[in-house]
Amino acid sequence: MERIFGRPFVTQEAMRARIRDLGRQIMADYADKDLILVGILKGAFAFYADLARAIRSPMRVDFLVVASYGVKAKSSGRVKMVTQLTENITGRDVLLVEDIVDSGLTVQYLINTLSKQKPRSIRVCTLLSKPQRRKVHVPLHYVGFEIPNQYVVGYGLDYRQKYRNLPYLAVLDKVNVEDE
Ligand code: IMP
Repeated sequence: MERIFGRPFVTQEAMRARIRDLGRQIMADYADKDLILVGILKGAFAFYADLARAIRSPMRVDFLVVASYGVKAKSSGRVKMVTQLTENITGRDVLLVEDIVDSGLTVQYLINTLSKQKPRSIRVCTLLSKPQRRKVHVPLHYVGFEIPNQYVVGYGLDYRQKYRNLPYLAVLDKVNVEDE
């Protein structure tokens, strides 16, 4: 599998260090809050597992499975929640954990939808952000790495539902993202 990807993008070491920093920052920011860490699946599963363990204070965990639909499925902004939260978020401090923010439409949809349940606060932590691709402004409080307009796979991120298990992030060449 790994031979397909010539260019590891962010090394495991760099990622580990950055996630440790994010964990420390989140721990400090949420010291007196009622944190519920909401992982957006499938893509965030690997990042979520590492980030959650870097936050060394009590918190709740929950997950949402989202799926895109439409012709240009990814980044079309047509997103639906396939599952619901199991925890009550009303009056609590929600931190959404995303793999990557591209157009921003998924995060925008999630913030709008979850805000109806009246959390005390709602913020976003994303491993990756592609600012050049943004279609809508979304507030990103915690960003692991800003990356250029390249298609990346591994560490939870897929290409046609594969390669999520690659233990590092790699640039996938020869992909027309618009076709995805
Ligand atoms: P957005 O709604 O355009 O911000 O898209 C976010 C979703 O698109 C992510 O959660 C990913 O599932 C997918 N996506 C965007 N860029 C990439 C990439 O480079 N690799 C893998 N998935 C991506």
